[in-house]
Amino acid sequence: MTQRPYLDYYTSAAIVPVHQDLSDFPAHVRRRKALYRLLGLSPLTFRGSRILEIGPGTGDNALATFTFDPSSYLLLDGNPSSLLEVRQKIASGALDPARCEVVEGDYLALPADSVVLSRQFDIVLAEGCVPFQLDPVAALQSVARLVTEQDGILVVTTTDEVSMLSEICRRYMKPAITQQVGDDPGRALDLSCTVFASHYSNLPAASRPVSDWVLDNILHPWSRHWALSMSSAIDALPDFDYLGSTPDYTTDWRWYKSFADPREGWSGVASQRWENVLEFTLDWRSTPPADGSERDPIGAELVRLCREFGHLVDNAWSADSYANAEEVGAKIGEIHGLIKGRSGLDQAARALGEFRASLPTLADGDLSFPYESFPAWWGRGMQYLSLSRASSTA
Ligand SMILES: C[S@@+](CC[C@H](N)C(=O)[O-])C[C@H]1O[C@@H](n2cnc3c(N)ncnc32)[C@H](O)[C@@H]1O
Repeated sequence: MTQRPYLDYYTSAAIVPVHQDLSDFPAHVRRRKALYRLLGLSPLTFRGSRILEIGPGTGDNALATFTFDPSSYLLLDGNPSSLLEVRQKIASGALDPARCEVVEGDYLALPADSVVLSRQFDIVLAEGCVPFQLDPVAALQSVARLVTEQDGILVVTTTDEVSMLSEICRRYMKPAITQQVGDDPGRALDLSCTVFASHYSNLPAASRPVSDWVLDNILHPWSRHWALSMSSAIDALPDFDYLGSTPDYTTDWRWYKSFADPREGWSGVASQRWENVLEFTLDWRSTPPADGSERDPIGAELVRLCREFGHLVDNAWSADSYANAEEVGAKIGEIHGLIKGRSGLDQAARALGEFRASLPTLADGDLSFPYESFPAWWGRGMQYLSLSRASSTA
């Protein structure tokens, strides 16, 4: 039987690997506020609104969103461990029981009589649960249908093989991990945490434990076509207007009065511009040139190569084998050739070259290669996108 991404893995392992650091709750709220602000959503947007959060995980993010005072908050998840944590938050009063409701279910297979389908939601939040589904575009469209027709707002995450390239490289270390610990998930988790702790510590703003990151990114079986890029998400929702994103990569110089013409839209500009900037998602330390100057676009070629690389890594990951190490090395060589010498990508290129040099060591099941720059290399991972229902009165 086909495994459902997230749900079957999380349920069989009885995990919910998305705990946020709540030791400083005001800092947690500041992070969430910053996220929403970058998406064009102020706390006032949430006040008095009817919210649906799909895939709330631990409910940690709901705690912050709740401080914006929504009128109702429905949390939908299909993982019993998530539901348990969310219900505990409601029972303890951390989430207001008068306004919160929990529904158990797979959002991709909601029964026709589901309470979720009978309600209107002003804001639908679907964070970290749309990409990685078996068909991410269909998944996106199924969450979008839950947004109210009247100016409703959708917040989703997007990701692709470029922004995840550094993680995909790390996933290629899984066969070596298996060689050392065999088929024991507990030992695989422990060894992975030991290997990647020094990598993870290079992310100063990381807010979840390394073990959760390992469970989600190294040991989690990913679907074959997991990517949902920023532009493909925007293009898949013609009834929605781009509202904001992080990274905030659009600069719109159009005069607001030009929007009297209904042909002036919001999503076209955002979708087209993505190809010019996506290379900067390779490394969270890089940013597009401040002077706004354009350069030869490599976006489409980069996506193609990184996708091919991703498929090779997926094969190695599934087989727990380095039989394709030569092909993997050659593909990394192509990606390296494309990004080498491009300003802003020098650190990513160095790290990628170093990772390539470590392949023979990895192929021996040896995880002790003396990396210098690779552990500090992280891409932009997930991006966030907000959209609003295209206004029918425009
Ligand atoms: C990676 S976690 C993200 C949690 C949280 N939104 C966050 O960003 O920290 C994915 C969450 O979505 C839930 N989920 C994934 N696929 C789902 C589906 N088809 N139906 C319902 N919940 C799903 C998982 O159980 C989990 O709670």
